[in-house]
Amino acid sequence: MKIDIITIFPEFFDAFLATSIIKRGIEDGFLDIQTHQLREYSSLKHQRIDDTPYGGGAGMLMMFPPFYEAIHTLKRNGTKVIMLSPQGRVFDQKKATELSSENHLILLCGHYEGIDARVESLIDEELSIGNYVLTGGEIPAMIVTDAVSRLVPGVIHEESSETDSLQQGWLKYPQYTKPEEYKGYKVPDILLSGHHEQIASWRKEQSIQRTFNKRPDLMEAIKLSQEELKILKKVNQTTK
Ligand SMILES: C[S@@+](CC[C@H](N)C(=O)[O-])C[C@H]1O[C@@H](n2cnc3c(N)ncnc32)[C@H](O)[C@@H]1O
Repeated sequence: MKIDIITIFPEFFDAFLATSIIKRGIEDGFLDIQTHQLREYSSLKHQRIDDTPYGGGAGMLMMFPPFYEAIHTLKRNGTKVIMLSPQGRVFDQKKATELSSENHLILLCGHYEGIDARVESLIDEELSIGNYVLTGGEIPAMIVTDAVSRLVPGVIHEESSETDSLQQGWLKYPQYTKPEEYKGYKVPDILLSGHHEQIASWRKEQSIQRTFNKRPDLMEAIKLSQEELKILKKVNQTTK
């Protein structure tokens, strides 16, 4: 998967791209993530990329021509161009999964008051990372890149992402590691029992219970199997 990020602050991404799983995904050839300095696509003096908005109003707006030039330079057949914006559809795990099967993404990071609205005719999608306004699109671009990258086959162990919270709709079951006990805080006995089937059904029940208790809003979108319905009834009764 190739991701090109257009920004006026490429240095924002230095640590992100040089750390942990993303770094390894790049080194192993599963990811090709490049940042591009928007100013290099400006033909103006001092590589200027912003100006005041027509019609008046506070702040500076990023100009259309540098984005036009950058997109036309980097775009190829099948590229998906995404603008990070608080006005977009809210990014979620479903969208991350969908984007992980694309070959090439271009991410546009706004700053200041945002980008001249003509850019909207060059994009395929506008994504928000939540209902709040940040100073720039760099952190949102990192969030999208991170969530998508870990779903690209080879980047992490696939079993690990398949059982992640939200991937199948549910929150993940609670997990524990060594030591078995610390100052009276114990790991549940079932996880030490070695009974794989019982562990699997305990985990399923915990997943359902956690989702029901912590994120009841997620339940509406989940299509329940007969077995899950039974567990949910049990969970419902114990929490009454
Ligand atoms: C201060 S914001 C501009 C907000 C714009 N004036 C508005 O009211 O819609 C500057 C840039 O930060 C990014 N940004 C801010 N909040 C965001 C969010 N929730 N999701 C994605 N991008 C965001 C966008 O790239 C945006 O162009």
